[in-house]
Amino acid sequence: MNKEEALEIVKPHLTEHRYEHTIGVMNTAIDLAERFNGDKDKAMLAAVFHDYAKFRPKDEMESIIIREELGKDLLKYGKELWHAPVGAYLVKSEVGITDEEILQAIRSHTSGRVGMSLLEKIIFLADYIEPSRHFPGVDEVRETSEQNLDEAVRQALMNTVIFLMKQNQLIYPETLYTYNDIANEQRRNNS
Ligand SMILES: [Fe+2]
Ligand SMILES: [Fe+2]
Repeated sequence: MNKEEALEIVKPHLTEHRYEHTIGVMNTAIDLAERFNGDKDKAMLAAVFHDYAKFRPKDEMESIIIREELGKDLLKYGKELWHAPVGAYLVKSEVGITDEEILQAIRSHTSGRVGMSLLEKIIFLADYIEPSRHFPGVDEVRETSEQNLDEAVRQALMNTVIFLMKQNQLIYPETLYTYNDIANEQRRNNS
């Protein structure tokens, strides 16, 4: 599936604003894959479909999470998290993408995951830094992403956790575990 075909499939599932965001994530993910020796085709597909389920009704997402056992813990946390695992499920069952690496990158793009692959880091980061994103700290993460993928992911996770805490929102444990995992990996690499 090429870029144009993929975008045509995803477009009716998104708002205009989210479609523009998706194109930003796609271009950013391709750039990051080029910079850090990732698979550009997989980065393109994972990016195009990462928010596929963003606008599914809450009830539908909830029943998919329960029926497909996508982690009932999820239901205790913000529904902003749900579209990622539900998206991976629907991209497989409705679009027919079966590549597990791509599906995993869609699945973890909001929460992160312990032991993230290169592709997962690329999609997680591209979603955070794409050009239409404007929030405090994003420029620093963009700058870091020019050189150091892990450090950029660590900064994005840190900013996300701090932001959620300031908003008095819950922190999904996997996001904290992901932060520790990346920080530990950096320590191992530096020692
Ligand atoms: Fe998303
Ligand atoms: Fe997104």
